[in-house]
Amino acid sequence: MSHKRKKISVIGAGFVGSTCAHWAASKALGDVVLLDVNEGVAKGKALDLYEASPVEQFDSRVVGTNQYADIAESDVVIITAGLPRKPGMSRDDLLATNAKIMKEVCLGVKQHAPNAFVIVVSNPLDAMAFVAKQVLGFPRERVIGMAGVLDTARFRSFVAEAANVSVKDVHAFVLGGHGDTMVPMPRHCSIGGAPMTEVIDKGTIDKIVERTRNGGAEIVGLLKTGSAYYAPAASAVQMAEAILQDQKRVLPCAAYLQGEYGVKDLFIGVLCRLGGNGMEKVIELKLNDEERAGLDKSIHAVQDLVVALKKLEF
Ligand code: LAC
Repeated sequence: MSHKRKKISVIGAGFVGSTCAHWAASKALGDVVLLDVNEGVAKGKALDLYEASPVEQFDSRVVGTNQYADIAESDVVIITAGLPRKPGMSRDDLLATNAKIMKEVCLGVKQHAPNAFVIVVSNPLDAMAFVAKQVLGFPRERVIGMAGVLDTARFRSFVAEAANVSVKDVHAFVLGGHGDTMVPMPRHCSIGGAPMTEVIDKGTIDKIVERTRNGGAEIVGLLKTGSAYYAPAASAVQMAEAILQDQKRVLPCAAYLQGEYGVKDLFIGVLCRLGGNGMEKVIELKLNDEERAGLDKSIHAVQDLVVALKKLEF
C-alpha cells in the first residue's frame, strides 16, 4: 500500500497565511501550497520557508502559487484571505470586502479541491464561514471556522499567567461568535483538573474574561497596521493536524449548527470533536442561565451579521 504525503493548501500569503504554512511545514504535517493573488509574495515566502527545511529538519515541500489548479488533491485547505482590521475597526467592518474575497476563493476551492476539509480563518469569522459553506456546498463536517481555539488560547494564556502555572495544565473553552460577545466559560476552566474558580479569585477571573473578549483588539491596537497572526495561525494548524491525523481532539470551533443549542443554519463557536472525518460531532452542554444568556446574545450578533451579509451583493 502506498502512503502519499498529505497536502495542505493555505489561501492568502499574508501574515496569518504564511505563519500557517510555517507551523504546518515545521510540524511536517504534509506538503504545503501557499496561494495568493500576489504571486511573487506567495512564491517568495514559500521558497524561503522551504529553504529553512534542511536547517529545521522537516520534510515538507512548500510551494507558492497564484493558480488554484495547484491546490488539487489537498486534504486540508486553510482560508486566510481577506483584509485584516485596522485600529478602531471591528471585525464586522470587514464584512463586505471579505465576503467578496471569500466567494472568489471558495469558487476556486470548490473547483480544484472538492474533497478537502476547509478551515476558515478570515474575519468576520462566523459570517465568512457562512459564505464559505454557501459557496462550497460541502457538508458541515468539511467547513469549519477557526475562532474558538484562538479565543481559548488567549484565555488559557491569561489564566496560566495569573495562576503562575504551565499553560499545558490549563484547560478551557470559549463559546459563541468570534466577536465582542464571545462567551468564555470560567465554570468549565480547570487548572490541573481542579476548577479554576477555586484557584483564582473572582475579580481576576472577570478581568481575564474581559481581556479575552478584547484579545484581538489588544493586538490590533499594538500593531497598528494589522491583526494577530502567531496565535491565529497556530490555532488553525492545530485544527488541521487534528483532522489530518484523526486525533479526535475536542476543540472549540465555529460549526454549522443544525439544531444544537436551538440554532439552525448558522456558524457558532461550540465544542466539537475534530478527527479524520472533520467536524465529527458537536458536543452540546448544559448551560446555566448566565451562560445561556451570554450565548443567546452572541448568537443574535452573528444572526445580525448574516442578515447584513444577505443584503450585500457579492
Ligand atoms: C483576532 C483576529 C484576527 O482575534 O480576529 O486576533
